[in-house]
Amino acid sequence: MKKNQFIVVEGIDGSGKTTICNYIITLLHNINIHNIIYTHEPGGTPLAEKLRQLIKYSKNEILSNRTELLLIYASRLQLLDNILRPNINNCWILSDRYDLSSYAYQIGGRGINEKDILFFQKFIINNIKPNITIYLDVNPVISLNRIQLRKKDRIEKESLIFFTKVRQYYLKIAKQDNNIIIIDANQNLYDVKLTVKKVIMKWLKN
Ligand code: TYD
Repeated sequence: MKKNQFIVVEGIDGSGKTTICNYIITLLHNINIHNIIYTHEPGGTPLAEKLRQLIKYSKNEILSNRTELLLIYASRLQLLDNILRPNINNCWILSDRYDLSSYAYQIGGRGINEKDILFFQKFIINNIKPNITIYLDVNPVISLNRIQLRKKDRIEKESLIFFTKVRQYYLKIAKQDNNIIIIDANQNLYDVKLTVKKVIMKWLKN
């Protein structure tokens, strides 16, 4: 049985990440794994939560794509240095989003050059990589429909075209990486959970 793994859940807004994160915690509890740090991005430390607010609700001023990128990586670095690096060998860690979000949203969605992000990979992330990433793949027409009644933040207000590009980038990377498991999140929640359960239980045993 595996020990102290780093699990990440990814997907576009409205893909059901938070529900699935809570479900994964239940699955882990059911097999007596309780030393779990559950976090999310952007955020996860007091300062990173302040950055999250700036990222999600920049008012009266257009947030440039590169400023958005810098704020996201500043938030990630706070999480890495204060939570992830000190605990990664002693605990299970579950994160609602991590670095793959930056590839999908900032490169795929905003059009930032991939080379510019590779610098951050080395400078900020270095060797802290998830053991498994559950990517909840959903058609943006469905996900935008799911979140239409929410009070939307700055990014959730983006267009269908934006989320289509974000999804395409997620899929592009996921198909190249065996540690990223693509789950069809267009299904109803019951079936998504069933698929996640199968994937996680099989992975835990390997
Ligand atoms: P999210 O945590 O998905 O929102 P909620 O839990 O409120 O539904 O919101 C974070 C937003 O930040 C989301 O729209 C995606 C965006 N984001 C990026 O653009 N790049 C990143 O690297 C990360 C981590 C998040």
